[in-house]
Amino acid sequence: MKMNHYSVLHTVVLPHALTGFTTKATSLCLLGKFLVFRVVLHTLAEAQRIAMKCMLTHLTRWATPTLSRAAHSGMRSSSTVASCTKRDEVALSSEDIFSREERYGAHNYHPLPVALHRGEGVHVWDVEGRRYYDFLSAYSAVNQGHCHPKIVAALTGQASRLALTSRAFYNDVLGEYEEYITSLFGYSKVLPMNTGVEGGETACKLARKWAYCVKGVPQYQAKIVFAEGNFWGRTMAAISSSNDPSSYEGFGPFMPGFELVPYNDIPALEKAFQDPNVAAFMVEPIQGEAGVVVPDAGYLCKVRELCTKYNVLFIADEVQTGLARTGRRLAVDHEEVRPDLVVLGKALSGGMYPVSAVLCDDEVMLTIKPGEHGSTYGGNPLACRVAISALQVMEEEKLAENAAEMGKILRAELNKLPKEIVTKVRGKGLLNAIVIKETKDYNAWRVCLRLRDNGLLAKPTHGHIIRLAPPLIIKEDEIRECAEIIQGTVLSF
Ligand SMILES: Cc1ncc(COP(=O)(O)O)c(C=O)c1O
Repeated sequence: MKMNHYSVLHTVVLPHALTGFTTKATSLCLLGKFLVFRVVLHTLAEAQRIAMKCMLTHLTRWATPTLSRAAHSGMRSSSTVASCTKRDEVALSSEDIFSREERYGAHNYHPLPVALHRGEGVHVWDVEGRRYYDFLSAYSAVNQGHCHPKIVAALTGQASRLALTSRAFYNDVLGEYEEYITSLFGYSKVLPMNTGVEGGETACKLARKWAYCVKGVPQYQAKIVFAEGNFWGRTMAAISSSNDPSSYEGFGPFMPGFELVPYNDIPALEKAFQDPNVAAFMVEPIQGEAGVVVPDAGYLCKVRELCTKYNVLFIADEVQTGLARTGRRLAVDHEEVRPDLVVLGKALSGGMYPVSAVLCDDEVMLTIKPGEHGSTYGGNPLACRVAISALQVMEEEKLAENAAEMGKILRAELNKLPKEIVTKVRGKGLLNAIVIKETKDYNAWRVCLRLRDNGLLAKPTHGHIIRLAPPLIIKEDEIRECAEIIQGTVLSF
């Protein structure tokens, strides 16, 4: 069982730490705190292990001979457990789950080996009942916390009344959602879609249409400029604008009309804008997938100025940075700029359902006419009801304010780590990353595996960067505990 990693860690930490980099005062202090913390965890883990053993002994009466049952399913009453006869309800071990996905699923992901079964708030539990802090939040989709009761209630209530009508007919929720989201963000119209990448596609289509109908770009000559390092999904358009070989290699021919400039480079952007056929510049206010790359202060203001000067649409891809993640409702709010189009996704449903949206004003939105763009599921009543409640939670629970405060604490703690190991700590609000100096036996993947063993889930982006993005409802004692886990783990190599 992974509980044993706690005790393994004690024996690993001490000799390495005392002979290695922990000779620094800060490191010793951190290590001391970590060991105290480990002892507490160890005691808790031991108690949990005994409790689990008791539960498992109890459950073996019900379990099938070949499959082990998750410990936490013991939380159900015996009668519920006893009535679990369907194959799907029999809990598999983590190993069973890894190998089944490996066998039957496409190999287009490389997940961290942990098999999750349940989530609540800032925590997730694996099939063996081990609890983890979720420091990925499904790539910032679960800003409101796992299975937020208000969003679950919205989902189940609407699902049992009316889920999907298509846009062939009106429904009684779409307009309510459109009114709510447009007034919250101050745009005159919204176009609802499902995934983030569809939001980006929609923004590109709107920009091209606007270029022909309003700006006067000759037919099919419109260009959209992107920043190097961008990530906005996996469709042909998204990879055609990517300079990351793992996104585009092997998938050509690519879509024309997309150009790249370096991120955070205003002179390069101004040069690109000399072409009168440029319709739009689409940019992430902080580049998430690139490794939480934060541009210089003032970059977004200058982007706004240039876009206005050259009559180019400013499209902010806020799919990952938006909805309170960076400590403001939108990341562009940090510089108080108003993009012409805003793309939202991920946390627009609190992780409950794929919901995305493009917000803009009539001059752009009304260039698309009936029948020219859409989606069977986009704007369905279930999605709209879920999105209203996810946005309400963001507002009512002041998630942006909390993200700003908790982010400051997290970065302050992580900055105490020795710079020769963690070379950079960066981010805004609760979208953060640490950059790790790789050695032959030390890289971001191995740190993430050990973080998992210590009860915290995070995922590397690229070989040496670990993104740290917990749900925005995290409290101060929890963020401090997590900082200690990260500090202790990094120092344990
Ligand atoms: C900034 C940004 N835009 C768009 C997307 C695509 O979203 P989806 O995966 O929902 O299509 C992502 C996904 O990570 C993203 O980070």
